[in-house]
Order: sequence, then C-alpha cells, then structure tokens
Amino acid sequence: MIRSRILGVGRYLPEKRVTNFDLAKMFDTSDEWIRQRTGIVERRFADAGVYCSDLALEASNEALKNAGMKAEELDFIIYATLSPDHHFPGNGCYLQTKLGLANIGAMDIRNQCSGFIYSLATADAFVRIGMYKRILVVGAEVHSSGLSFTDEGRDVSVIFGDGAGAVIIGPSEDPSRGILTNHLHADGAFANILHLEMFDISQKPCLTHEMLDRGSLWPRMKGKEVFRVAVTRIPEVIEEALKAANLKVEDVDLFIPHQANLRINQFAAAKLGVAEEKFYSNIQRYGNTTAASLPIALSEALEEGLIKGGSVVVFVAFGAGFTWACSVMRW
Ligand code: UT7
Repeated sequence: MIRSRILGVGRYLPEKRVTNFDLAKMFDTSDEWIRQRTGIVERRFADAGVYCSDLALEASNEALKNAGMKAEELDFIIYATLSPDHHFPGNGCYLQTKLGLANIGAMDIRNQCSGFIYSLATADAFVRIGMYKRILVVGAEVHSSGLSFTDEGRDVSVIFGDGAGAVIIGPSEDPSRGILTNHLHADGAFANILHLEMFDISQKPCLTHEMLDRGSLWPRMKGKEVFRVAVTRIPEVIEEALKAANLKVEDVDLFIPHQANLRINQFAAAKLGVAEEKFYSNIQRYGNTTAASLPIALSEALEEGLIKGGSVVVFVAFGAGFTWACSVMRW
C-alpha cells in the first residue's frame, strides 16, 4: 500500500506585529478582554501592496528547501485560502507563476479553517492513486485587508492574523509512516453563523454601493455558536480518526489543532483527557491565520523538536461552513 508523507515544511509570517494594545487604540477593546477570551497577545499584518500569494511564495520556497527540492520538481499545487488575491482565477495560478512554473495543475480549496486538512487529504489521495509524486500544499491568508477595525467589527477583527504555511507531499518509502487517515465533514446548515457576504450573485449587479454601505465587505460571526459547536466537533472527529487508525488518545505524541481560540483547544483537550501541553499552541503570537494555522504550527513544532521520526501527530480543525476535519499521521 502506498502512503503519502510530508517531505518538507515552510512558513512565513509578515514582520509587522500588531499587539492587543495597538488594536485598543483603534476601537473599544482591551488586552485583558482579548487575552482572557482567546489567548491572543499579538498577530502579524501584511503591509499594503502584499498579496496572499506573496506570503505563500515565501512559505513554499522554505518548504521546497527543507524537502531538498527545486520548484521544477513539483507536479501539482493545492492552495487553501479564504483571502485570495482576487475573486478569480484561483491563487494556485498566481503562486505557480511566482514560483516560475507553467503547465502543472493548480487548484484552490475554499474550506476556511479546515482548508489545510481538506487540501492535505486531497494531496494524499492523488499520491496514493499514483497520479502525482510531488504536491505543494499551501495555506495562506491576508486577513488584515478584510477586517472592520471598528467597535462594530471588534468581535471578529481581534481574532485574525496574516501568515502562510506550506508542505510538500510525496510517497512514503516506509508504508508504516505517513498519512494514516483523513476525516472531512461539513454542515452547511450553519453557513450563516460565520460568513462574508461580500457579493450576492443573485443580485444584478452582484455588488452595490448599498451592500457596501451596510457592511457586506466584513465577515460576520456568531462567536458563541461557533464556540459551542467547535468544542463538540473537535473531540468527536479526533475520536473518529483515531479509531479508524486503530490508535488511542494515549498513542498520540502531538495534537496540532487549528489556532482559532486557545479556550476552544483547552476545552477539547480536557474533553479527551489529554494534557494541555500535548495540544500545540502558538495563537498567542499569530492569532487565527485560518488555512495557514496548521502548517505554521507544524513548522514551529518541528523546529522545537516536538515531532520525531515515528511520532504520531494529529491535525484537527473546525471553522466556517461549518467544516471540520482531522488527519492522523505517523511522522
Ligand atoms: O476560525 C474561525 C472560527 N471562529 C471561532 O472559533 C470563534 C469562536 N468564538 C469565540 O472565540 C468567542 O465567541 C469570541 C472570542 C469571538 C467572543 O467571546 P464571547 O465570550 O463569546 O463574547 P461575546 O461575543 O458573547 O461578547 C461578550 C461581550 C459583549 O458585550 P456585552 O453585550 O456583554 O456588553 C460584546 O459586545 O464582549 C463584547 N465584545 C468585546 N469587548 C471588547 C465583543 N468583542 C469585543 C472585543 N473587545 N473585541
């Protein structure tokens, strides 16, 4: 049986740090409120003029370097984002040309916080059927251009940050190592709990001044509802995935959860009876970087020596859609 594994990992965070105190100068919030509710201390914002695909390029180049590969050796690109450079074409195409490539396939995955795991699962399937051997999977976001830094938008704007992470997926020589199982879920009945209207394709034209005036450019979230469902779905999908991989919670060396809210992850760890230290966390420094949060966290966890050959690593995510997903791998 062919398995796929991660051959290289990279990340890129813009240099500009924005602390909770900086946000408190822009609208009515406080460091205390943000820290207590989310764990976030600061986040990074890209400068004006920087595209999502620019962040992705930096992370991809680092992943290629870590895999000991040149961009020319890639045979496919999967790009997860909810903040693409433009409405179309997909960001995979922009990234492809920035990497100096042409002709290889490139696609976008629009699954928000679960986008990286959906992309990983897609790449895993392509590798296992023998269709591709070197797939670049990127998660990247520039949220800072699409947030309302006002009292009205404060519940959403304090959470998000910019960043990118990338991995290279290819066949594993050792069939006992690599991606063991992927579990992808969605429930569109919750679509309006966390969404960005931006345009409405049923209207002609699909974007009007009136829509902009009523704030359709800004994401809307019923935070408590997201929190409530997240703390149920996250442990549930982890248990489902571990069962499929014939593993127990105790067999897991590191959980890498999506970094949406430190408290969500603490709840999930407690529900599973797992020590909090086993749930990786860097939300304090970056906020919620949506599709980028898992590969950024993976990249840092590797550098910190938390993952070694043979380690069992569990990725889990929950977000808009709602979508939620889990991947289990033996490193
Ligand atoms: O990856 C995307 C998925 N998203 C999530 O996972 C988000 C999940 N939800 C959450 O993380 C939390 O719901 C939040 C952190 C967003 C909000 O925490 P909460 O405890 O649910 O607060 P709340 O929305 O119920 O608001 C409580 C109070 C309200 O004031 P009143 O009505 O009690 O006077 C809000 O107006 O806090 C106020 N508030 C704020 N105050 C200071 C809302 N946002 C802010 C803010 N600063 N940024």
